[in-house]
Amino acid sequence: MSYVNILVEKKVNIGVIKINRPKYLNALNRDTIIELTKAVEELEKDKNIKVVLITGEGKAFIAGADIKQMNEMNPSEAKKFAEMGHKLLMKIEKSRLPFIAAINGYALGGGCEVLMACDIAIACASAKIGQPEINLGIHPGFGGTQRLPRIVGRSTAKYLLFTGEIIKADKALEMGLVDEVVEADKLIERCLEIAKTISSKGPVAVSLCKQAVNQGIELDLIRGENYEVEVFAETFATYDQKEGMKAFTEKREARFEGR
Ligand code: CAA
Repeated sequence: MSYVNILVEKKVNIGVIKINRPKYLNALNRDTIIELTKAVEELEKDKNIKVVLITGEGKAFIAGADIKQMNEMNPSEAKKFAEMGHKLLMKIEKSRLPFIAAINGYALGGGCEVLMACDIAIACASAKIGQPEINLGIHPGFGGTQRLPRIVGRSTAKYLLFTGEIIKADKALEMGLVDEVVEADKLIERCLEIAKTISSKGPVAVSLCKQAVNQGIELDLIRGENYEVEVFAETFATYDQKEGMKAFTEKREARFEGR
């Protein structure tokens, strides 16, 4: 599949999606959201792919939803647009694949929302992150009002959402919005290193683990624990569980096969 607004590359078993509209700081217009959704579906279907990395070309990861396009929207068009964004981010969240956001610069509005839908976020030291929608007379529409409080807590989320303050990477690290901050020239290398580590594990266990965390966090503790018990049991139906435990007893590296 060929894309206009994004680049998709496969580095062995790691899929790399790069948003490629640097002139517009990778702002998410309708076409880019459609392409990103297709790229996620394409990588999801490819059984060789074990991890996906999302990054941006130029000085931005994503500077938000496309303001020039939104400027022309009426309420019903805005609703459809928000639904497109939610569909993409839900696909990432529900994907069998772990997603790593490589935050190479501005991650604002829709960009911060993409970051939050990913499983792990690594930022370069100069990255700037925030939900500045309030300055446009709107609030986040791709899940920011929902995911941000779940990640940083209710009052910190409200502070960021109400003030529109754009924070630096080290502050985002303190808040738990990103997992690590590295120098810009080491960003992709570090993300690939994490991706390689994850891809060396049993993909079924990684995928079930992602599911257990993402589903469980929406449930109360007892129901979350029950959910974990169910998916834990599922891992015992896999070859990889047998191989992983056999390798431990034989004091060797496990050779996982994803089944
Ligand atoms: N949408 C459309 N175009 C955008 C954009 C966006 N979100 N962000 C930047 N651009 C465009 C600019 O209009 C400019 O294009 P032109 O040269 O044609 O004017 C180009 O990208 C470069 O941007 P700047 O000249 O503004 O670059 P800068 O370095 O001076 O400033 C910035 C960088 C602080 C990130 C600034 O561009 C900015 O504030 N961008 C908007 C950030 C924002 O408000 N994001 C939230 C969007 S709303 C949203 O995302 C809603 C949602 O949840 C769904």
